[in-house]
Amino acid sequence: MALQPIPRDARLYIAGHRGLVGSALWRHFAGCGFHNLVGRTSTELDLRDQVATTAFFTETRPDVVIAAAAKVGGIAANANRPTEYLSDNLRIQVNLLDCAVAAGVERFLFLGSSCIYPKYADQPIREDALLTGALEETNEGYAIAKIAGIAQIAAIRRQHGLRYISAMPASLYGPGDNFHLHNSHVLPALIRRFHEAAREDSDHVTCWGTGKARREFLHVDDLAQACHFLLDNYDEDQPINVGTGSDLTIAELAHLVAGVVGYRGEIRWDTDKPDGTPRKVLDVQRLSRLGWKASTPLDQGVQATYEWYRAQQGAHPT
Ligand SMILES: NC(=O)c1ccc[n+]([C@@H]2O[C@H](COP(=O)([O-])OP(=O)(O)OC[C@H]3O[C@@H](n4cnc5c(N)ncnc54)[C@H](OP(=O)(O)O)[C@@H]3O)[C@@H](O)[C@H]2O)c1
Repeated sequence: MALQPIPRDARLYIAGHRGLVGSALWRHFAGCGFHNLVGRTSTELDLRDQVATTAFFTETRPDVVIAAAAKVGGIAANANRPTEYLSDNLRIQVNLLDCAVAAGVERFLFLGSSCIYPKYADQPIREDALLTGALEETNEGYAIAKIAGIAQIAAIRRQHGLRYISAMPASLYGPGDNFHLHNSHVLPALIRRFHEAAREDSDHVTCWGTGKARREFLHVDDLAQACHFLLDNYDEDQPINVGTGSDLTIAELAHLVAGVVGYRGEIRWDTDKPDGTPRKVLDVQRLSRLGWKASTPLDQGVQATYEWYRAQQGAHPT
């Protein structure tokens, strides 16, 4: 049966609606005229709690679910708290998927991450690289949880014939990002460090690693648009990559961020700290063939993210 676009009056539950991805999804769908959006904070509904999650689905009966609730962090956070990245994420996604099937949810989009792919996967990484090699050890627990989610989606499709899909975004950034000193991702971490260095007039900033690792960054508003596109147009077992398809070195990124922030001091590299996977760029041909392409240039996206960060600083000075 051909896929129909999701109707504007669908009851759409965005799990994790206050997070980086969830808030972008909320902005996007509200902006498109969806008027039956449902969200719960983790205090209102702890998705690790099966009883509470079952009660929520029984009561709310969503038509469509996007799973953007997860325990997410950078290299340091994953390395220091590996148990939570594995067990919390497994609990959250198993509860969401089991409850969605039981409640008759028609469409479900599970968000994984590019870290599901092997550390030394051929680049750009195609979807069929999944499970062909060892994972990057610093985020193994998180990746294994996400791989289990993809497997559960495929199993549900086989057993129940439901239109549940999974998408693997590249590293994301944008308004709503986490700028925490110890558990943020590289791009917001660089924005914060250069912003503070510029404000304090520091003569140098030391960044983790060699700066040579290559990464891809997708603006979260582009991801939100892609999620909508996929729910309307994609219906296959295999996860689908969502990215820009182009990458740059962390050193290039650092210079871009320094330029946006107005930091003019020296950038040093602490080569005792890990680089993580040497290169990570997604092959986005399947998505392009379906007709979707990211539209936010990195420099513009970083500029807008920095403006958002500064506005937050103004609202809540540190
Ligand atoms: N950030 C990236 O670069 C990136 C890249 C690829 C894929 N992804 C995927 O995108 C999804 C969302 O990531 P994000 O960056 O938006 O993360 P985020 O900003 O940390 O937001 C995560 C959200 O999950 C919710 N959450 C966490 N634990 C929960 C629990 N036990 N019960 C209920 N809700 C819970 C939080 O709710 P509260 O705010 O209410 O506490 C929060 O809103 C994840 O699946 C992640 O793997 C992210």
